[in-house]
Amino acid sequence: MVTRTIEPVSDGLAQRIGVIGAGYVGLVTGVCLASMGHNVTLRDIDAAKVTALNDGDVPIYEHGLTELVKANDDRLTFTLSMDHLVERSELIFIAVDTPPTYSGDADLSRVRAVITEFAKAGGGEGQVLIMKSTVPVGTGERIRAELRARGLGLVGYCSNPEFLREGTAIGDFLRPDRVVIGQFEPRHGDRIEALYRPLGAPVVRTSVASAEMIKYASNAFLATKISFINEIANVCEEVGADVDVVARGMGLDPRIGPSFLRAGIGFGGSCFPKDVAALKQLAGDSGYHFQLLTSVIEVNELQKRRVIGKLKKHLGDLEGKRVALLGLAFKPGTDDIREASSLVLAARLLAEGAVVRAFDPVISDGVGERLRGVDMCATAEAAMADADAAVLVTEWDSLVGLDWPALRSTMRKAVLIDGRNALDSEAMIGAGYTFEGIGRASVRSRAVTELSDTQDRR
Ligand code: UGA
Repeated sequence: MVTRTIEPVSDGLAQRIGVIGAGYVGLVTGVCLASMGHNVTLRDIDAAKVTALNDGDVPIYEHGLTELVKANDDRLTFTLSMDHLVERSELIFIAVDTPPTYSGDADLSRVRAVITEFAKAGGGEGQVLIMKSTVPVGTGERIRAELRARGLGLVGYCSNPEFLREGTAIGDFLRPDRVVIGQFEPRHGDRIEALYRPLGAPVVRTSVASAEMIKYASNAFLATKISFINEIANVCEEVGADVDVVARGMGLDPRIGPSFLRAGIGFGGSCFPKDVAALKQLAGDSGYHFQLLTSVIEVNELQKRRVIGKLKKHLGDLEGKRVALLGLAFKPGTDDIREASSLVLAARLLAEGAVVRAFDPVISDGVGERLRGVDMCATAEAAMADADAAVLVTEWDSLVGLDWPALRSTMRKAVLIDGRNALDSEAMIGAGYTFEGIGRASVRSRAVTELSDTQDRR
């Protein structure tokens, strides 16, 4: 992607922007817009978060965000008060979360609460609500009806889905590959397009319903690519092919493209699992059975569990076996463990009676209930000491770059499963590991070597 410097707009062009919800999406959106020269008021209902932000502490781990908050603090206001936000803003982004309900539908209660509060706070003509949260197709239409019913028919409404990835969210915002704007009235879409113009990205102007669908369809397609390559990987293991080479050979075809073809132990995070389930549900609710997505979800669930089979192949019964999980976050560059493969893996291992020790470079505590029974270690070395097996779950650079040959001798048995195909398989085998990646059958698995205390362990 081309790197460009974005000149802040002059004072005369600075907009008064509100952002409701200071989570990943809201914070990044607000802070990036402030860095472009706009005056931004961010509102959250979490008092501790607002206090922290006012003190210059960013409560989430997102590369570059703390620095950007600091550099733009004169254009950023953090508040608990919706009245304050409504008073100070003309373009108001909604970035509250829409978690899945038990039925798989998106939970829109927070979005509804925002509309009620906006009305109570005296929001009205001249203001435009811009939906950043991922909401089911048809939500915009319903919100418009609700605004009308409250006598707020002159409030603008647009859908402006986000395509930010955790870990690279600032770059994704400031150098987007596209900006999607769904509008009921062109004059409202025009105001949003003007906001993004300095970024120079292609703009897709469309209806609100199509914009809402673009978000779901994009995430569902990317998730489909991952499940597809994971199934190819599983077949590769059976037939003696190497999925990394297969993915490269496929990805050079521009119709396929190289991205999102990394085989591994499944996708996680706060977006893909939720959005794929919500799109499947949305289709089902409107009478269409989205068969492909059912498989995408099932393949992903099974993929997380395949590691257990690999461990059993080398260690037999896992009762009492010590397994080190390296990396817990759903991907590198984030402290997010929502729907992470590590959670399923840890729970399955504990259910098999294994002793699970874990390390993640940015997650040390606060995981509480979600990793109950897992022994959190301060270093990767501590997690691996005396272990029967280690699983690379998240491909953090600092984990990939560990001194693997030296670590081998600290383990009881040297089974190493690379759940992200991030390690050099030949080097690991050379170092004496019984090594398995995902879909890399060309790699010989060696018999487990019992390391005697006297010979190999220091
Ligand atoms: C994803 C999308 O990439 C963003 O465009 C979107 O805005 C965001 O969801 C959202 O809806 O808010 P994110 O969840 O941050 O972003 O993470 P990704 O980098 O897309 O990774 C998702 C998962 O897929 C991770 O667990 C990752 O390890 C896995 N993955 C990704 C693979 O297993 N293989 C791949 O080739 C790529």
